[in-house]
Amino acid sequence: MFDLKGKVAIITGSRRGIGKGIAERLAYAGANVVISDISQEDCDALAKEISEKLHVSTLGVKCDVSKKEEVNNLMQKTIKKFSKIDILVNNAGIFPFVELEKMTEADWDKVLNINLKSVFLCSQAAAKVMKPGSKIVSISSIASFVGFSGLTHYCASKGGINSMTRAMALELAPKKINVNAVAPGAIDTPGAASTEEAKNQTIAVIPWKRMGQPSDIANAVHYLASDEADYVTGHILVVDGGWTVQ
Ligand SMILES: NC(=O)c1ccc[n+]([C@@H]2O[C@H](COP(=O)([O-])OP(=O)(O)OC[C@H]3O[C@@H](n4cnc5c(N)ncnc54)[C@H](O)[C@@H]3O)[C@@H](O)[C@H]2O)c1
Repeated sequence: MFDLKGKVAIITGSRRGIGKGIAERLAYAGANVVISDISQEDCDALAKEISEKLHVSTLGVKCDVSKKEEVNNLMQKTIKKFSKIDILVNNAGIFPFVELEKMTEADWDKVLNINLKSVFLCSQAAAKVMKPGSKIVSISSIASFVGFSGLTHYCASKGGINSMTRAMALELAPKKINVNAVAPGAIDTPGAASTEEAKNQTIAVIPWKRMGQPSDIANAVHYLASDEADYVTGHILVVDGGWTVQ
């Protein structure tokens, strides 16, 4: 089940955190993976580690997902090495806390460009070369459903991902390309690092009484990237230990 042998998967923002967990999981299931992030050195290091450990083909490509030329370069390098793209995981994202009244236009643009415009740029470029059966999975957030103080721009970007997911699912249905999203709750990653006290406060409100791990998100992405999800499209899969059902 969920065999990805021979598939080619691009994971954006995958040098660490959730993206790294997804890349490792897809490679474990047999996919050849493209590690993509803002540092070529980090991408190369993880690509090497995964190919040695899991015996799949890998590629590291520096790509700032908010820049169209770099996204096009990512797709071209992938096609040059693997001749196809079966799976795109739009994972790259930032979540800087800024109070609404102190938020600058530059703060807003940065978050929207990296978190939302990137999903448009990457999905458009990948869809042009994807064949029937291909999968696009974007990493949204529970912040797309509930508000978080200090994250107005972030909440908007993730709500945008949910809306885009539904629109793209319809538009790409005739090409039999599935488009879904995963909405994580609180996941223990370098980007979400906080004090023990803050972590314990978060855990206290999660029914499952623990932080999520990158592997929890990788499990959901693995399913949505597989042939077993062929009839699932336009879905936002919440993975939050029950946080938002309260
Ligand atoms: N950690 C959580 O609690 C949580 C919850 C909900 C959603 N998410 C989402 O999951 C995704 C991954 O988050 P994470 O917690 O692993 O964060 P992280 O900071 O640990 O990892 C994010 C990765 O994205 C990369 N990145 C940042 N800007 C980029 C750019 N312009 N182009 C390409 N790559 C870029 C970073 O270098 C980093 O490697 C994000 O979209 C985030 O919004 C995280």
